[in-house]
Amino acid sequence: MAVRAGLVGVGPVGDRIVCCLKERNFPLADELRVAATRARKEILAGEEFAVQALDESDFDNSLKFFEGLDVVFFAGREGAKGASATWAKPAIERYGCYCIDNGSDFRLDPQVPLVVPEVNMETVTDATRLIASPNCSTIQMVVALWPLHKAAGLRRVVVSTYQAVSGWGGAAQKQLYDELRQLVERGRVDDWNPSIFPRPIALDCLPHIDRFTPGGYTKEEMKMVNESRKIMGLPELKITATAVRVPVDIGHAESINIEFERPLDADTARQILSDPGQAPGVVVIDGPTKDPNAAEVRNAPEELQYPTQADVLREEWKDMVLVGRIRDDDTVAHGINLWCVADNLRKGAATNVVQIAEKMIERGIIG
Ligand SMILES: NC(=O)c1ccc[n+]([C@@H]2O[C@H](COP(=O)([O-])OP(=O)(O)OC[C@H]3O[C@@H](n4cnc5c(N)ncnc54)[C@H](OP(=O)(O)O)[C@@H]3O)[C@@H](O)[C@H]2O)c1
Repeated sequence: MAVRAGLVGVGPVGDRIVCCLKERNFPLADELRVAATRARKEILAGEEFAVQALDESDFDNSLKFFEGLDVVFFAGREGAKGASATWAKPAIERYGCYCIDNGSDFRLDPQVPLVVPEVNMETVTDATRLIASPNCSTIQMVVALWPLHKAAGLRRVVVSTYQAVSGWGGAAQKQLYDELRQLVERGRVDDWNPSIFPRPIALDCLPHIDRFTPGGYTKEEMKMVNESRKIMGLPELKITATAVRVPVDIGHAESINIEFERPLDADTARQILSDPGQAPGVVVIDGPTKDPNAAEVRNAPEELQYPTQADVLREEWKDMVLVGRIRDDDTVAHGINLWCVADNLRKGAATNVVQIAEKMIERGIIG
């Protein structure tokens, strides 16, 4: 069963979508059709693609890009003039495409399912045409929270994030490298683009991702709150977030404090999260280290393993949510702390949308 697929947006997320399609042998009927704001050649996943232009001033002609496509992955800019806001609904109405969107425009629309396949794939039905994929920091958190919720009921979640610059697009990655070069060459950062980050990001952490809302939280923090509630179907969940940009290229980390309705201790949480049947997509890296140097150098036999952002670039873990540092929180009746990392461009975006499409094929919705 093969499907005709298209991709809108060729930034880092678009590139990773092409990687996932290739690596996972996604059943493409024809060559992937690719569009962005300008026509050109572009290398994606190491292969050259002819990129077509989607131009609002030439609307009808541009819309033909979608003709005959079964599924379209959107990885374009967000907002009123953004890719999915401009093209998704016309593509659905004119050509009946299934659109899976990485952006935030439709995530909280009650008519649009917001999907993490490990959690709520059942919200996609035969009638669904537009599907939203959550914010990167939300996806990895709910993949880890959901199995624990099923075991003991979430009561309250407090999360602090450590988010890579690539979460803000390809231009942000270039900016970090440029700032680091300035630091090495001149010892200070003189030139940076404040429209990307409000202050230099090299060797600093900014508790400021996206714009501030009137309550003092940032939009990124409110995305984690509102999207998690929608995905898990827990509209009253007590959840609060602090989102921090750190000078890491790829990979988001999160420190999550979780309080449960019913008893659940760290050992049980570790068992649940270590079981792929109960916690699909999760890898637990926690426990005594097997690195002989840890004990030797630091004279600390109690050293533990834990995942870091660098680990999510490893082949075997690039699509997984890595969890470690699982500890009892003795300040509440039933609480734990854990640390969780994932590749924001892969499971936080590209892998998630490709997995959604795969599940739709499996269920006979597309293809
Ligand atoms: N980065 C992450 O970790 C992450 C995680 C989850 C979700 N997302 C979301 O995924 C999307 C893509 O992220 P990214 O980091 O790859 O972004 P990016 O680096 O800014 O790239 C955006 C791409 O979309 C194209 N584009 C923008 N507006 C368009 C329009 N109106 N019509 C057609 N194409 C358009 C751009 O075209 P040109 O190349 O021609 O300018 C560019 O190729 C965003 O919505 C982002 O919020 C990102």
